[in-house]
Amino acid sequence: MTAQPPVHGDVAILVPAAGMGVRMGPGSPKALRPLAGEPLLVHAVRHLRAAPSTGLIVVAAPAGAVADVEAMLAPVVDAGCALLVVAGGETRQESVAAALSAVPASFDLVLVHDAARALAPPELVESVAAALRAGSAAVVPALPVVDTIKQVGTDGEIVATVDREPLRAVQTPQGFRRSVLEAAHAAATLAHTDDAGLVERAGTRVDTVPGDDRAFKITRPFDLLVAEALLAST
Ligand code: CTP
Ligand code: MG
Repeated sequence: MTAQPPVHGDVAILVPAAGMGVRMGPGSPKALRPLAGEPLLVHAVRHLRAAPSTGLIVVAAPAGAVADVEAMLAPVVDAGCALLVVAGGETRQESVAAALSAVPASFDLVLVHDAARALAPPELVESVAAALRAGSAAVVPALPVVDTIKQVGTDGEIVATVDREPLRAVQTPQGFRRSVLEAAHAAATLAHTDDAGLVERAGTRVDTVPGDDRAFKITRPFDLLVAEALLAST
């Protein structure tokens, strides 16, 4: 694989943001909840837009909030980056599929990024995009697993300790050649929690780039506290 120079604006980023945030507790859909005074989704889109490669952002919004999300995000993007907002689906996979179908044919490189990973830095977008330009069909950011991992039985008793050396925790943005992602979604029969899972299932090699702690997923109330602290420290 050879390094290719970045091309400004050649990447479309799909942002699934239609989840309810059940693990966050009662309240609005998670992407619309406040983080340091602004909706989580605003932080996510602002970070994505700051990457020079980003030419289009397609948000899958909670059904019923499409117009609100358009109005909320219009000031966050600028002339160099188009914004589309579509209604998301019942599952993350359906939300990604809805966003993917809105991407114009001119984009060959597509990234998928959870709104819930609102503080992922622009450099991570660039490193995923660079791997695609260098020839990867699919690429995910991955971090070594720090905890000791155990397998448990039906009563919660430990049955095995898993060797963590070859394990990785994967994040988003995950990057794909558009044709690869489209084929994987078209062929999907099972539910997958990430897009790389679909692509692996289709038999395509998925490469990794180093992940970034700041791309952690805001899932529970504790994660919101961490995100607030991180924003306050920068
Ligand atoms: N997502 C989506 N459409 C869905 C479900 C999830 O677009 N039907 C998005 C979420 O908005 C989030 C990302 O997928 O940005 C990752 O999902 P997760 O962190 O699980 O968010 P929620 O599904 O909202 O949270 P929970 O599972 O606690 O309800
Ligand atoms: Mg979920």
